[in-house]
Amino acid sequence: MDDLDPELLALARSARTVTVLTGAGMSAESGVPTFRDAGTGLWARWSPEELATPEAWEADPELVWSWYLWRARQLRRLRPNAGHRALARWAGRARVQVVTQNVDDLHERAGSEVLAHLHGSLFAFRCSACGAPFPGALVPGLSPVDPEEPTRERPPMCPVCGGAVRPSVVWFGELLPEGALERGADAVAEADLVLVVGTSGLVQPAASLPLIAAGRGIPVVEVNPEDTALTPHADWAVRARSAEALPRLLP
Ligand code: APR
Repeated sequence: MDDLDPELLALARSARTVTVLTGAGMSAESGVPTFRDAGTGLWARWSPEELATPEAWEADPELVWSWYLWRARQLRRLRPNAGHRALARWAGRARVQVVTQNVDDLHERAGSEVLAHLHGSLFAFRCSACGAPFPGALVPGLSPVDPEEPTRERPPMCPVCGGAVRPSVVWFGELLPEGALERGADAVAEADLVLVVGTSGLVQPAASLPLIAAGRGIPVVEVNPEDTALTPHADWAVRARSAEALPRLLP
């Protein structure tokens, strides 16, 4: 990784309010597959249409439930990486607002507070019929088990209406959680510095958030080994892996 621009380092050290928008690349070095990296991307094995849509749930709730349960179990074995930990430490020096597209809990397990999970969480559940929240502690098999290939399992039944319980993850075509995008937009608008880490910037409306900063002249730093759709809107492009770059960028 090249040396970081001294002006960027000074900016990172002086920023008082920072908003960090993260995507799947933030968790890649913890072993969580990204969505679109060729070959390793999660969708390389399953197509989004098969699993992350309301239609897929209607067609085969057991398949969709089993896949999400398997992903949640996988995560129980994984750990936050040095990038997650660097962001958590930074919160001791500045007001750091994390807005993530990730449905994992690695930011929280590293010690960060997450202002918004724009695409929901693997560890939150609700009834697919009446919407009643369903406690994760009651989800069978969400204990640390050796994640093998997904087995077919029936989703739990809602104690309120008997409907099938689903993961509270935002599926393609669904609305984001109430207020999440607004909190993200406010956090970007009030920041001295915006970091965009590990996202291809291809999925709206999350990808519109860095443009709010760019439109207000708030410095935007992209941390990603590759160019993305957001690169043209960034003031700095740190072409490196987040677990390597963030500990060197952040105080
Ligand atoms: N450090 C930083 N960035 C990385 C790393 C890494 N170690 N490894 C990969 N990346 C970058 C890739 O270059 C890519 O730009 O992370 C990005 C991952 O992009 P996607 O796989 O498209 O993931 P993301 O942008 O989070 O997808 C957004 O799409 O499928 C939906 O809901 C899903 O939240 C997801 C959304």
